[in-house]
Amino acid sequence: MVNYPDPNCTELRAALGRKFGLAAEQIVMGNGAVELIYLLMKLLQPRKVLIPAPTFGEYEIGVVCAHGQVVDLPLDRAEEFSIKAEKVVNHLPQVDMVIICNPNNPTGKLIEREEIETIIREAEETGAFVMVDEAFMDFVDEPERYSVVDLVHKYPNLLVLYSMTKFYGIPGLRLGAAFGTPRIISGMTAIKDPWNVNTFAQLAGVVSLEDEDYRVRTRVMVREAKKEFYKALLKIPGLKVYEPSVNYVFLDISGTGYTSTKLKESLARRGLLVRDCSSYKNLGADFIRVAVKDPASNRRLVEALTRLAAGKTNRGVRA
Ligand SMILES: Cc1ncc(COP(=O)(O)O)c(C=O)c1O
Repeated sequence: MVNYPDPNCTELRAALGRKFGLAAEQIVMGNGAVELIYLLMKLLQPRKVLIPAPTFGEYEIGVVCAHGQVVDLPLDRAEEFSIKAEKVVNHLPQVDMVIICNPNNPTGKLIEREEIETIIREAEETGAFVMVDEAFMDFVDEPERYSVVDLVHKYPNLLVLYSMTKFYGIPGLRLGAAFGTPRIISGMTAIKDPWNVNTFAQLAGVVSLEDEDYRVRTRVMVREAKKEFYKALLKIPGLKVYEPSVNYVFLDISGTGYTSTKLKESLARRGLLVRDCSSYKNLGADFIRVAVKDPASNRRLVEALTRLAAGKTNRGVRA
């Protein structure tokens, strides 16, 4: 490619604008959504940021890189780690930013848009900024119940993150977006690397957004595979299965006799890769996250988990 990429991602922003009902001035593109987390922190330099735990680890790194301090909001295991607006609101006076991942990674838990709007409205009162990460929202059934993208028209203290790497399967190409007021978007645009999104990623983004057929097929495929996978996982003794909302399933494995690290290693020896969640804050050694794949791969994982769990629980040993 002999020319530099379009620094403004003109076509792509126009396409996303049509999809989400936004003006191009309300959109900035990133080399993955992750770049935009770092850009926002660099721009706003928040001193204290409220982050629920567990959640996606890059938020904390972004805050620390911008010399800010993280205020943890430990989510309650007894409430399946759901994020309660009331608890977030209680902490708002002590922070200048809050981050909400919806659906949350790794739990898959969703928060209703009314709850998030409560947080945003209260945050506006206390002078706090709200970043809502909707990286997995394309997989969600009834996204209109959960997404707050349209609220960027209403609240100046809101930024919504969007990723194309997950639903469109292009994590190696890197493509993400942030939606906000023209003011915040122009601030982020001014400090970004001018050619942060390469030509191939821009092209892939435009083509992907036009491909309604892919979108419909993928949603149906994931929904069907997820349903069958969830039902099969529920039958495995010793597992607590969190109801999946997206293309991964969160599992409490404490009843299997394994720690998450040991279970990950045992599955890896059988050629099956799962996410050991022990590196997430507030989770300990009891959780793994597994991807929803094609039905045959899902069945392979279910069989391996069934065999491993049966072996351990029969011996009553905790590895
Ligand atoms: C919640 C969440 N947000 C953002 C990202 C980053 O997405 P991207 O690949 O677009 O940088 C991830 C990646 O795993 C994620 O889990």
